[in-house]
Amino acid sequence: AGAVPFHGEHQAGITTPAQDRLHFVAFDVITKDRDRLVAMLQEWTAAAARMTGGKDAGVIGAVGGMPEAPPDDTGEALGLPPSQLTLTVGFGATLFRDAQGRDRFGIAGRRPAALADLPHFAGDALRPEISGGDLCVQACANDPQVAVHAIRNLARIGMGVVSVRWSQLGFGRTSSTSRDQATPRNLFGFKDGTANLKAEDAGLLREQLWAQPEDGADWMTGGSYLVTRKIRMQIETWDRSSLAEQEQIVGRTKGSGAPLGRRDEFDEPDFAAKGDDGQPVIAVDSHVRLAHPTQNDGARLLRRGYNYVDGSDGLGRLDAGLFFMAYQRDPRRQFVPIQTRLARNDAMNEYLRHVSSGLFACPPGVRDAADWWGRTLF
Ligand code: HEM
Repeated sequence: AGAVPFHGEHQAGITTPAQDRLHFVAFDVITKDRDRLVAMLQEWTAAAARMTGGKDAGVIGAVGGMPEAPPDDTGEALGLPPSQLTLTVGFGATLFRDAQGRDRFGIAGRRPAALADLPHFAGDALRPEISGGDLCVQACANDPQVAVHAIRNLARIGMGVVSVRWSQLGFGRTSSTSRDQATPRNLFGFKDGTANLKAEDAGLLREQLWAQPEDGADWMTGGSYLVTRKIRMQIETWDRSSLAEQEQIVGRTKGSGAPLGRRDEFDEPDFAAKGDDGQPVIAVDSHVRLAHPTQNDGARLLRRGYNYVDGSDGLGRLDAGLFFMAYQRDPRRQFVPIQTRLARNDAMNEYLRHVSSGLFACPPGVRDAADWWGRTLF
């Protein structure tokens, strides 16, 4: 039930051991006034520092103020512990230049090359109204009420400056981001997050997760790029496929999560191994083969996704899937080539549909009480 430190070199909520719950929100900025946007980011930062510490969003609090005024906190987290709440902010490409080509805030020249629009991938069925956004905030916590409270209060503080474009709730983290955590399962029933970048991999994090000074956008040094994909799962169809077929599609066993042909979850997959029938033990179109660094010039991701169930679809099926989130140093060398390969050949595609997409530049950490989200950019 503890608190995760808000201040640091990097933003919390990336290598922080993945919490169990998510409320993710993307905002459109509705003002053209740069000073108002900056003032809101400063207010957001102060509120985020307070809320992640288990306090009310405002200094007065939900019930301490004048009876005539709306409270500076909405109150539903009163009495709840911090619950490892982390709040992580990111900036979308449209903040730098909007859909009409306007540079509303005088920052078009500071758009990092790595924040390049994602290409269309085979099979994409993206819905624009739940994709993109000028700003995003990822709230993760071990209590869903705490995560929702944080997003609600940021939206309240931002009234007149931002409006909510889309948001997503998630449960049951589908990745571990630290070696101390047991690997959780996604809604296909498979362990997810076995071969993930983890907090302990210092060298790999420098190489694959954090933007570096030589990457060309100084203000992003120590930050990271977030790709979000809402991936609907055809779970009813999946549930009618055989266990052997499911394991062939993933390339791992459903029980222990070991690569096919190996014994333990963390054994390295042997992609050269052939079965008695002469066929590769791990199929050529299996998910883990196609996504593995050896197939992608060494590229890795820090995956930090969540399961979702958004009710049902009116056709007798659950509207369920994976809200995929992955952090990386440069999507052009990591998410894009991996997803290009998966979109073309992954046997899992038969059961998947990508319905939303987002790409955000998440700046470095807030250093201290005088620092604020976006200071290095504005
Ligand atoms: C590995 C499931 C989408 C990239 C895995 C594993 C599972 C899995 C079960 C094996 C366990 C592990 O190492 O974590 C899924 C499901 C998806 C999905 C159900 C969609 C609903 C994606 C997407 C990407 C991706 C969109 C990136 C473009 C990876 C990577 C690995 C992996 C990089 C590790 C491969 C390795 O190094 O062995 N995924 N995945 N996955 N997945 Fe996915």
